[in-house]
Parts: sequence; structure tokens; C-alpha cells
Amino acid sequence: MIHLHFKTVTSTNDFAKEMLKEHDQVLISADFQMLGRGRNNKVWEGNPAENIYCSLGIKHRQPQRVKNVSIYQGLGCLAVKETLERIAPDCRFYIKYPNDVYAVKNGESKKICGVLVENGFMGELALYTIIGIGINVLQSEYYSNLKDKAVSLKMLGIDVKPHDLLNALKSTISKYLDYNSELIFDLWKKELNIVGKEVNLVIDNSKWLIDSIDVNACLIAKNILNNQKRLITNGDSIEYQLG
Ligand code: BTN
Repeated sequence: MIHLHFKTVTSTNDFAKEMLKEHDQVLISADFQMLGRGRNNKVWEGNPAENIYCSLGIKHRQPQRVKNVSIYQGLGCLAVKETLERIAPDCRFYIKYPNDVYAVKNGESKKICGVLVENGFMGELALYTIIGIGINVLQSEYYSNLKDKAVSLKMLGIDVKPHDLLNALKSTISKYLDYNSELIFDLWKKELNIVGKEVNLVIDNSKWLIDSIDVNACLIAKNILNNQKRLITNGDSIEYQLG
């Protein structure tokens, strides 16, 4: 896998997209992002050289339908979870729908990694996919809205250099790239373990039962009070018990 590391970039996702003009597959990492972004138009901030900021760009040999690229969010978080478990075998990590990784600290689950998957579409077909991964490694403090919600490996008592973690992540990603889509989708659903669970819709505190996950990786939910059905695609809109 071609891997390019930079001191500073705007966003590794943007750089990976740019590099796909020359390569079919590329991993871009950086010490610092000036314009790191998260899902739902949120900013993804982090101190220089203290965390992992990386993006895997994949140019599809043949343009892909949405349901075929939805597995990439699973690939990203499965690879991160497995890598973290290898580096910190005594810690507990969970995937929160769709592709966050949480770690347990003092009995509470906190976010340690976020994955941002972006696709380049021509009409309904995806030409390329970028899997952007941010992992909290050495940062020891989080501010404002992240204060009680984020955790790093250092805060869990795990001493690892971002560079070493990135190398471990790279080899786990390579392993998952050899898996077929069905296997990744099944592993992701198993790790999510959300089907049959009750979730709370943050916006109005309504309670929903997760019925199933469809081929596009959307949650199909049933209202506990009136059996009304709805699709849930935004993980930040729900709260539920992980694990
Ligand atoms: C989220 O949880 O909202 C997703 C966060 C994704 C952050 C990573 S850091 C590397 C890559 N580049 C970006 O600009 N974002 C992703």
C-alpha cells in the first residue's frame, strides 16, 4: 500500500482524494490537520503529533452502487477496533453505530476513534471511497463539547506512539481489504450488536427497537409505543447501551 505522511495538511481525506488521481489505492497520514472534519459537518480537532489522522483512498475498478460501498465504514472501524485490542488487550472497545469506536474508562464508554467515509459519485455510482480515521492516542485533555465524551489511549494508561499504532493499523487494514464484502458486513453487524436493542432518539427522547440493518447499512427501527417504522442513518442521533 502506498503510504505518504505529511507534517500538516488541510484534511487527510482531501489529500487522499487528490492522490487518487495518480494512484488506485493510497494511505495518507499527517501529524496535524488544519481543517479536519467529522460527520455531520462537525470539526475534528486534535493536537499536533498526538493522534492518528489518516485516510485510505480507494479507486474502484468498476463504479459501485451505494450498497457495495456501505461496507467501507465497517472496514474502517473493524480494523481500528482490532488494532486497539491488540495494543491494549486489557481494555474494552466497542463499535457504536455506524463506525465510531468507544473505549471503557471507569465504567463509562467514551469515544476514542471516529471514522468519516466519503464517496465520489457519478450519478448513482461511486467512483472512489475515502475512509478517514481519527484515533485519540497521546492527547490528555479534551475541551468544550468533547470534555466528558472523548478518551485517548494515554488516558486509558496505554503508552503507544502514534507512528507505531499507525503501522499496526496499516497491516490490519490490509488484512480487511482482502476480505469479501459479505464477510466485512457480517463482522460489522456482529460487532455492532444493535439488532434487538432499544435506542433513544436524542431529538425527542422517543424509544425505538432496532429491527434489522438493511443492505445500505441503515438501521430499521420500530417505535416502541406505536410500532411506526423509520430508518436511522445518523449514529449521533441515537443513544444506547454498547456491548
Ligand atoms: C466523526 O466521528 O465524526 C468522524 C471523524 C473522522 C476524523 C478523521 S481524522 C482523518 C480524516 N480526515 C478528516 O478530515 N477527518 C477524518
